[in-house]
Amino acid sequence: MAKHLIDPHGGTLVNLMADQPRAEELKTQSRDWASWDLTPRQFCDLELMMNGSFSPLKGFLSKADYESVCENMRLGDGTIWPIPVMLDITEELAKSISKGDKLALRDMEGYTLAVLSVEDLWQPDLKAEAKKVFGTTNEEHPAVAHLMNNTNPWYVGGTIEGVQMPRHYDFVESRITPTHLRERFETAGWRKIVAFQTRNPMHRAHQELTFRAAKDLEANLLIHPVVGMTKPGDVDHYTRVRCYQAIQKHYPKNTAIMSLLPLAMRMGGPREAIWHAIIRKNFGCTHLIVGRDHAGPGSDSSGKPFYGPYDAQELFQKHEEVLGIKMVPFKMMVYEPEQDVYVPVDEVAEGTKTLSISGTELRDRLADGREIPEWFSFPEVVKELRRTYPPRGKQGFTVFFTGLSGSGKSTIANVLLVKLLEMGGRPVTLWDGDIVRTNLSSELGFSKEHRDINIRRIGFVAAQNTKNGGIALCAPIAPYDAIRKENRALISQYGGYILVYVATSLEVCEQRDTKGLYAKARAGIIKEFTGISDPYEEPDDADIVMDTVDTTPEECAQEIILHLEKEGYIGLQDEA
Ligand code: PPS
Repeated sequence: MAKHLIDPHGGTLVNLMADQPRAEELKTQSRDWASWDLTPRQFCDLELMMNGSFSPLKGFLSKADYESVCENMRLGDGTIWPIPVMLDITEELAKSISKGDKLALRDMEGYTLAVLSVEDLWQPDLKAEAKKVFGTTNEEHPAVAHLMNNTNPWYVGGTIEGVQMPRHYDFVESRITPTHLRERFETAGWRKIVAFQTRNPMHRAHQELTFRAAKDLEANLLIHPVVGMTKPGDVDHYTRVRCYQAIQKHYPKNTAIMSLLPLAMRMGGPREAIWHAIIRKNFGCTHLIVGRDHAGPGSDSSGKPFYGPYDAQELFQKHEEVLGIKMVPFKMMVYEPEQDVYVPVDEVAEGTKTLSISGTELRDRLADGREIPEWFSFPEVVKELRRTYPPRGKQGFTVFFTGLSGSGKSTIANVLLVKLLEMGGRPVTLWDGDIVRTNLSSELGFSKEHRDINIRRIGFVAAQNTKNGGIALCAPIAPYDAIRKENRALISQYGGYILVYVATSLEVCEQRDTKGLYAKARAGIIKEFTGISDPYEEPDDADIVMDTVDTTPEECAQEIILHLEKEGYIGLQDEA
């Protein structure tokens, strides 16, 4: 092992992989053992544990280690360790295994990746864990939400024997393990290495900051982005990695390297900063850049930040000596247009004009197809972002109609379909209530449960249409608010979502009774009929409300088209 590099945390770089004969033996024997299908987070944790990124951990935490980590940020033997790395399992599995047993850990395809020797089994107090580790029980904090809603009720602790490393098929050459990165550093003669942790695309400010940190320290630079799990809503890692690759040429040759870290972030702020430092130390880095609100989840719904902007720096400073790896604290960088330079915000002379573009503004500019200035980001990076986030005129969208039977949803949807086809540019798919009930949901009835399944299916296919740049027109009754909102959340991730409430009154619908269903419903021949013997929850979030009493279907369709134009989904770009 490298002689000149910083020691790993705890002194030795852990390697949990069994040798070939033992791995074969475990693979065979594990067929008779209890097994657990790893969750995405556990999958990430296991990989970093097996390859030594989490040294000195040799397995998922035991009860004593867990309690000590929560309480004192230390493992049972006193080594500093800030974040519990836990294997949470179901009650059913917990009841079927006991101390001394082996548990096979499998990936999503069912391959055994590792075997855990069961040492401890217990039911944790997850709320207390949230409070101690993340300083809050507010479920708006993503790690707390994960603990309270996505964590199984039992923890199992024990050491790991690795059978097979998790497989990745993307950016394989950039996924460098601690052992290999240390070898590369050693070969290149790099001793002082400053690491940069990120879960966002890198713009000029980040390049300036990292370059400045490396220059000031006379150190080499490791750009170490997280590609495991980050904050929901972040730019996907495929796009980000293409951005990181693009930015590499903006560093002097042989001074910087980029490697990808399959870490599942917790967004744990100060404690997470310490964790990031330990991990980078294991990769051979001597310094870690810690900026403003490092690994913070932002603010809660009342606007109160979960952590102070420099809490992470303070906690790091307190433990810097025992950690061994040093912190490079950074203030936010801002741009001074007069000088055409980036400077830390606390170095800006009073009265100097500065510029910055927030993440939200960047997204807005991308959505509107507006200019993103070169002082903010490199053109190669902007190009990648534009490929993933095309302007609205090139995005897919869903128009989701809701309203009573006979309200006119289908008629308007059909007119809109034809108008959009006439305009051209995107494929249009109509998911009318009847079409869906015949082709997607023929086995379903009209109970709340079945209606929810039906609407969820429509949401799923509409999301696919939208994601692929098409237009979905959906026209079911969709009487329940919660499921409509679920669809909005799903589809909005991929493009536009416009909810149209066709608010034709029950009286009018019943009077029309085009299919004779209302009469049958009144007579009790059809049960659970919306508006008669089943509820309809009016939407409070409709983007357009229309009535078909005084307006023709053509006028209604036109109103929707004008709305789409106003929002930027249709316009001049379509003609190009
Ligand atoms: S839902 O609630 O969204 O799943 O309903 P949807 O898939 O749109 O199906 C509604 C159409 O089915 C006919 N129909 C009923 N509607 C409501 N309640 C009951 N019990 C019922 N039974 C049959 C009705 O023709 C609806 O079609 P539209 O096009 O809305 O008139």
